[in-house]
Amino acid sequence: MEIKVNNLSQQISVFNQYMTEIRDVTVQTDSMRFRRNLERVGEIMAYEISKTLDYEQHRVSTPLGVSECSMLSSQPVLATILRAGLPLHQGFLNYFDHAENTFVSAYRIHHNNDDDFDVEVEYLASPDLEGKIVILCDPMLATGSSMVLAYKALLERGTPRHIHVATIIASEQGIGFVQQNMPAETTIWTGAVDKELTSRSYIVPGLGDAGDLAYGSKQ
Ligand code: URA
Repeated sequence: MEIKVNNLSQQISVFNQYMTEIRDVTVQTDSMRFRRNLERVGEIMAYEISKTLDYEQHRVSTPLGVSECSMLSSQPVLATILRAGLPLHQGFLNYFDHAENTFVSAYRIHHNNDDDFDVEVEYLASPDLEGKIVILCDPMLATGSSMVLAYKALLERGTPRHIHVATIIASEQGIGFVQQNMPAETTIWTGAVDKELTSRSYIVPGLGDAGDLAYGSKQ
């Protein structure tokens, strides 16, 4: 069974306005708007993913009576790849506000300024993940190698029941890599699917460097 891809820009909604602003080089100069738009995409994805989760009935007392309501049976764990994933993560946390959180660092090392790179995973802060639903977010799914290495790092804390991979823009190559290297109990959620990668594995047309646009360039 192939891992399913949900591309939210295939539906008509205000979601597409946020995606347009995120990509637009003139709007990107406002880094606060860029971060907030990533967060808004996270909020909408959280809502869409919430439709796949389990709920249970609760009786709540209102000032005037008792109402039968539904509540999440359990919260997903929100897992994020540092640093570019932080605004998207915040969007998820705005909706799943009781969720536990996992942070993992994964960054590219270009040796001798080559186009080829290794991905280093150095830092993991996570609760127990055994049997839990995990939403693993990173704005750009380019080659897919950071996502898969981050997933493998998470396994040190247990095997999740289901992983939702959440990205702003995915490349076709990155989707293929995740489909080949992550379990069948994975779902991909993306704001767009782009066809190409540059020789340095940036997505084209993509949006540029998500981490730098959100937090400034690094040395
Ligand atoms: N990371 C980014 O920030 N942008 C890309 O296009 C690929 C990886």
